[in-house]
Amino acid sequence: MSDVDLVVVMGVSGSGKTTVARGIASSMHWLFAEGDAFHPEANVQKMHSGIPLTDEDRSPWLRLVGEWISEQESAGRSAVITCSALRRAYRDLLREGRPHVRFCHVSAPQDLIQDRLDLRAGHYMPASLLPSQIATLEPLQPDEPGVVVSGDGSQAVVLASALSALGLTPPD
Ligand SMILES: Nc1ncnc2c1ncn2[C@@H]1O[C@H](COP(=O)(O)OP(=O)(O)O)[C@@H](O)[C@H]1O
Ligand SMILES: [Mg+2]
Repeated sequence: MSDVDLVVVMGVSGSGKTTVARGIASSMHWLFAEGDAFHPEANVQKMHSGIPLTDEDRSPWLRLVGEWISEQESAGRSAVITCSALRRAYRDLLREGRPHVRFCHVSAPQDLIQDRLDLRAGHYMPASLLPSQIATLEPLQPDEPGVVVSGDGSQAVVLASALSALGLTPPD
């Protein structure tokens, strides 16, 4: 149980969370979950229409993300989940009562993210929400467990930096 590791891959929309988290899960043979999938339908509709979510909108979503993490923690399973976790208060909620949680913030320049979002198909989050995401983002503070990884590079390079920053060595 003591070596359970629960990584929340955080960052603004389009920073590369899903890509990095899937990479960590597949390298480490960990369970993966997409935090976006825990949004109530009303939140998805709102974002799809280009309307930023409020703290109140985010509350049920964060609760469900936290419950998923708790399930893995109580089963003693290491796992990785994406969750933008833009604000300190959201991250505190995710950590409360879950001692193994740590964050991996994927950070990239706005123009790079914008270009990637313009190319991304089949996702409800419009590129127009990027500025509000960036305005909402509160960087990890020194007393929060986690690492910051540059998302500026190929997928392989970004994944290698994430694994290294997290101190994770994939099994053979
Ligand atoms: N390192 C990378 N280089 C180039 N494109 C990337 C990279 N990481 C992610 N992408 C692409 O950028 C878009 C956003 O990445 P995604 O992982 O969906 O971000 P998020 O989950 O944070 O919204 C996707 O289309 C993805 O395929
Ligand atoms: Mg994603």
